[in-house]
Amino acid sequence: MSKILIKRARLIDPSQNLDKLGDVLIEKGRIKAIGDDLFELEAYVIEAKGIVACPSFVDLHVHFRDPGQEYKEDLESGMRCAVAGGYTTVVCMPNTNPPIDSPEVAQYIIRKAEDIGICRVLPTGAITKGRKGKELVDFYSLKKAGCVAFTDDGSPLMDSKLMQRALELTAQVGSLVMNHCEDDRLAYGHINEGYVSSLIGLSSRHVSAEDVLIARDCILAYYTGGHVHLQHISSRLAVDIIRFFKDKGARVTCEVNPYHLLFTEEEVLNSYANAKVNPPLRREEDRKALLEALRDGTIDCVATDHAPHAVWEKGSLQGAMPGMIGLQTALPMMLQLVRDGIISLSHMVGLMSCKPARILGLEDCGSLKEGYKANLVLFDTEREWTLSEETNFSKSKNTPLWNKPLKGKVVYTIFEGRIVYKDV
Ligand code: DOR
Repeated sequence: MSKILIKRARLIDPSQNLDKLGDVLIEKGRIKAIGDDLFELEAYVIEAKGIVACPSFVDLHVHFRDPGQEYKEDLESGMRCAVAGGYTTVVCMPNTNPPIDSPEVAQYIIRKAEDIGICRVLPTGAITKGRKGKELVDFYSLKKAGCVAFTDDGSPLMDSKLMQRALELTAQVGSLVMNHCEDDRLAYGHINEGYVSSLIGLSSRHVSAEDVLIARDCILAYYTGGHVHLQHISSRLAVDIIRFFKDKGARVTCEVNPYHLLFTEEEVLNSYANAKVNPPLRREEDRKALLEALRDGTIDCVATDHAPHAVWEKGSLQGAMPGMIGLQTALPMMLQLVRDGIISLSHMVGLMSCKPARILGLEDCGSLKEGYKANLVLFDTEREWTLSEETNFSKSKNTPLWNKPLKGKVVYTIFEGRIVYKDV
């Protein structure tokens, strides 16, 4: 099937300001043509009336647990979740075992993912050896081995001197630092400090833990000229700080997790440990500030922070590991915001494809331009479904959305001209 013809789709591509009905012809893995009424005798035809076709999604933040914790997820199951969610490029975090702090581990991931071959997995390298926060890795050799950015995610980089140096050195090798911003001396509890933590008497994480590190990283990016990407931001003040430093010209970008856009700390009362995540679900005023920042462009992109954990690791709130799976639910969650009139469909597509691709300077994704590799997702905004044993591709099921009604479903994912997921 070397040719695919998509007929009468709603084509959305913010990278070319495109939102119109039309056809796409894919040939030899690339976008051959976009037009009003294309015809090709030998092509596999997808009748896409009522369906959106856009650049496939790019996720800057997933945990695939491979190597080391494959009982939660491995590269193959993670990649299957990705394509079922409409993603063909995902950036995996280094909190594996061993962590990605050497070229060998980075290469293991790249090679294994290439063998599986259904989407692209790009590793991040740790900022510090063993993610211990003490000694910087060799950024140059990790970048050469294929790491696209550096983060100790799962843990913050607390040492300001090391952060300053990391920003300088990653800039020198043409890369960037991503940080999980929560000061771990201030954030040691289980859920957000607020109404729910007082109600159930659980130790908590104050929002200031996030704000303090966000401010520090913005200041260091401002002075060093390095690029910091702030991961899964969740607080009202964080948004204000980021807006301020962007105005000053600092090289600061940030991502938000759909769960922080749709849920508040009160979800803990419904979903218990499945609503435990770091940074935690916050108050309504934080959620509202995130929505405003999404609207005004302060937030650069959406990232899932897909964080699988086994059922027994999600028992009591106190004992549970933080995190939620998110690759398959991101699209219906974001479509909810479109239905609520918070953002347009085209803006949503940009936040999930073109914009994350641009942050990492990734070529051949995040766009439907002719000549680009054919990486597309086709989705039905109206289709209702549930994430359940039948539809889930992850080895884990830790999400507040398990078995809940969802609206909006990926029907095709195309990776470099090949159909890698189909549900019609
Ligand atoms: O909730 C989280 N889980 N936040 C993180 O930063 C790490 C992640 C994980 O690895 O489970």
